[in-house]
Amino acid sequence: MINNKPIGIFDSGIGGTSIWSEIHQLLPDEKTIYLADSKNAPYGQKSKAEIIDLSCKNTEFLLDMDCKLIVVACNTATTNAIQELRAKYDVPFIGIEPAIKPAATHSKTQTIGILATQGTLNSELFHKTSEKFHDTKIIEQVGHGLVPLIEKGKINSPEMITLLRSYLTPMIEANIDYLVLGCSHYPYLIPQIKNILPAQIQIIDSGEAVARQTQNVLKDKVGLSNIKNRAPLFYTNADPKVLSEILGNQYEVIEKDF
Ligand code: DGL
Repeated sequence: MINNKPIGIFDSGIGGTSIWSEIHQLLPDEKTIYLADSKNAPYGQKSKAEIIDLSCKNTEFLLDMDCKLIVVACNTATTNAIQELRAKYDVPFIGIEPAIKPAATHSKTQTIGILATQGTLNSELFHKTSEKFHDTKIIEQVGHGLVPLIEKGKINSPEMITLLRSYLTPMIEANIDYLVLGCSHYPYLIPQIKNILPAQIQIIDSGEAVARQTQNVLKDKVGLSNIKNRAPLFYTNADPKVLSEILGNQYEVIEKDF
């Protein structure tokens, strides 16, 4: 089955480009449209109702662009809004959730850490998933302040390193052997996190799994594109500079109010 319509991907900001890049690598023939709702970032501190409203707004923008499938490249939006999105819109949705399962399954110290937004850690979906692994101690830490710094392009700033140290040190002391990155912005902090964590602690995120899931749903339900090398489109409702920079200044970023 052939379907040349684009895949829509949205996040509260630039972080979901970490997921976009996994999808683009695995499915290079697919046209992608990425939506960065940076004007409304961070989502992590907002109420469930606000996150649902913003997720519907982003979805409608992508549906107006005729997207065949939508990837919610944001853990906060997935854990708070994906059920409502699936109920409201007649298009397949792929979400991203913290990779608790592989971390808990492989942990030898039976202690893992998770860094995510408050919205994700407080969500019912997250609680349901983590309850399944009651034999594993899960150290939860809200990454207060990390997303705003990433959105400002301050990935390597002293403030960032200070925040990361304060969040990771208690996890190291608690003997975690896996750190789950439960926010799609955080993969951009992996070099800084690696400088703080002892080498034996593994870092995992869900980007690759989301790309594989996208591929499976396309094959099973929607159809794959047969037109090769379709250039991706990037939209932001804030200053396009940071999004452009995180993409290595390789792509045009369109500024649009949505
Ligand atoms: N990138 C997002 C996530 O995966 C949201 C961050 C935020 O806006 O607070 O959770």
